[in-house]
Amino acid sequence: MSQNSIGALEGASSVTLYDRFASLYDITFKFNRYSRSVERYLRERAIPLDEGARVLDAGCGTGLLTLALLRTLPRPARLTALDLSAPSLRKARKWVAKLDEARRHEIEFLRANLLALPFAAETFDFIATSGALEYVPVAEGVAELARVLKPSGYLLHLPVRPAPASKLLELMFRFKTLDPAELDRHTRRHLDIFERHRFSPLEPIGWTKEAILCQKP
Ligand SMILES: C[S@@+](CC[C@H](N)C(=O)[O-])C[C@H]1O[C@@H](n2cnc3c(N)ncnc32)[C@H](O)[C@@H]1O
Repeated sequence: MSQNSIGALEGASSVTLYDRFASLYDITFKFNRYSRSVERYLRERAIPLDEGARVLDAGCGTGLLTLALLRTLPRPARLTALDLSAPSLRKARKWVAKLDEARRHEIEFLRANLLALPFAAETFDFIATSGALEYVPVAEGVAELARVLKPSGYLLHLPVRPAPASKLLELMFRFKTLDPAELDRHTRRHLDIFERHRFSPLEPIGWTKEAILCQKP
């Protein structure tokens, strides 16, 4: 497993909310077994990926989704975990270092803005993003993710869905839930929507999130 330096934006002036609240976020979502719920979904869905597939976790935060990806990728992959917040990336790196399943993958952590991804067009086979497009103009965010996705590549988007429990998260983590119709419209400009998955209300992730799996034509 290689873990490159946090990189490009270290020392830059942009400071996100997550520079201060990475620990609070991490504890809250570890407690509700968010990563395990995503893991279960990924195992059931079994997205077809070849050995050496390029995978991006865009807005990886403290690595909850990254861990689910690393536990379920069917073959050794090259995963990039990217976020604006250096403290969140440090936590993600720490959790990943403890994960046995991570050793069969090549992993890099990168501090960068998902609105200006430092990658050529059509780089990734699979992009996953959860709770990050809520912080950027959604049309631009979806367009940028679609740009770096290969044709026939998959995007798994786990947006916060409008729900009573989401209001609390909006206050705690200062974002605005995406309007589903608007998100749908922007997504369909670039990608085919393959399936929508609602998590069970028995899993806490089901109170605030859904999964939208898309494919680039
Ligand atoms: C709600 S957290 C989600 C973290 C992780 N994806 C998860 O599912 O637990 C949102 C993350 O998006 C990151 N973020 C917000 N705007 C970003 C941007 N423009 N580029 C990269 N990351 C961003 C924040 O730093 C934060 O770590």
